[in-house]
Amino acid sequence: MEAGRVFKITINDQAVEARTADTILEAARRAGIHIPTLCYHRQLSPYGGCRVCVVSVEGIPRLVASCTTPVTEGMQVRTDSEQIRKIRKTIVELILSNHCNECMVCEVNGRCELQDLAYEYGLKTIRFQGERSQYEIEDQNPLIERDYNKCILCGRCVRMCDEIQGVGAVDFSKRGFHAKIATEYDGILSCEFCGNCVAVCPVGALTSKISRYRGRAYEARQVKTICNYCGCGCTLNLHARENEIVRVTSLEDDGVNEGHTCVKGKFGFQYINHPERLKTPLIKRNGEFVEATWDEALDLMAENFTRIGKEYGSNTIGGLCSAKCTNEDNYLFQKFMRTVIGTNNVDHCARY
Ligand code: SF4
Ligand code: SF4
Ligand code: SF4
Ligand code: FES
Repeated sequence: MEAGRVFKITINDQAVEARTADTILEAARRAGIHIPTLCYHRQLSPYGGCRVCVVSVEGIPRLVASCTTPVTEGMQVRTDSEQIRKIRKTIVELILSNHCNECMVCEVNGRCELQDLAYEYGLKTIRFQGERSQYEIEDQNPLIERDYNKCILCGRCVRMCDEIQGVGAVDFSKRGFHAKIATEYDGILSCEFCGNCVAVCPVGALTSKISRYRGRAYEARQVKTICNYCGCGCTLNLHARENEIVRVTSLEDDGVNEGHTCVKGKFGFQYINHPERLKTPLIKRNGEFVEATWDEALDLMAENFTRIGKEYGSNTIGGLCSAKCTNEDNYLFQKFMRTVIGTNNVDHCARY
């Protein structure tokens, strides 16, 4: 079959357009048909690990994972039936049978994909009781907490770190009941701390330490903006609660960054509400910095630039601008330094 050919398949007795490269899940989602998923993520390679996306296909005697099964012309798919619901419910029960189920105090309560599935399939009790994994919480870093008692082994973090971030800081280790996501030799997390694994974790296994206990997702007002750390211009969603930024996320359909950010964009927002943030110019008087008006500060700068230029030459003066300014601001700054002050000593903070 040639790539990208368009043909019809049938999903729940409805004719749906599909392309040769599609999986059943992709064709269904494009047609607005709901199939639950856990390990699937649109930007990552299909994994087929959780099986909650199972559907029935005419002519195939068993249920198939819709996220890994390619479509074929004329295929007849059913995404919902008593048997499918029963199997999905059992899968969710099995996952929850080895899960710490601390929803009440869990950071992602209200935005947890596992919790949503337990609700969707009406789970009131878990039939399977037995030994549960017990892991120490791993948080020997200032940014990310890893609580593998909540991990459902979906592998999204592994694929995100490897396929998108290109770091490979985490992977599956061990097997069966002892299977776990781990760093090299199960040591402390030592990586770029981009937080993109946190962003794709469907449950509360990976969370931001900076946002912890600073409010539920539904309590925050979200404001879309552009990151002002560098010229990439990533789209960010600032979550504000009681007039403070408490979390930064980014949506995969948004902007040039498609939901990914670096460590600064995701975790470097505390300066916005920091009590030590500079809000007025400071002038040193008698060895102490004191607050001043802009007129006072600009007069002092003009006086000192003129004096230093005359006494030592304008090349003894240099200027540092900021990636937090616009391109236009930075352009004007270098123009000012070169033409008014008379120096080419101009630099910028846009580097680690
Ligand atoms: S990860 Fe989800 S299901 Fe697990 S405790 Fe947290 S909110 Fe509950
Ligand atoms: S924070 Fe980034 S680099 Fe570190 S494990 Fe997660 S995805 Fe990989
Ligand atoms: S830590 Fe989160 S993303 Fe990674 S495998 Fe566990 S549940 Fe999935
Ligand atoms: S979403 Fe298809 S197997 Fe997990």
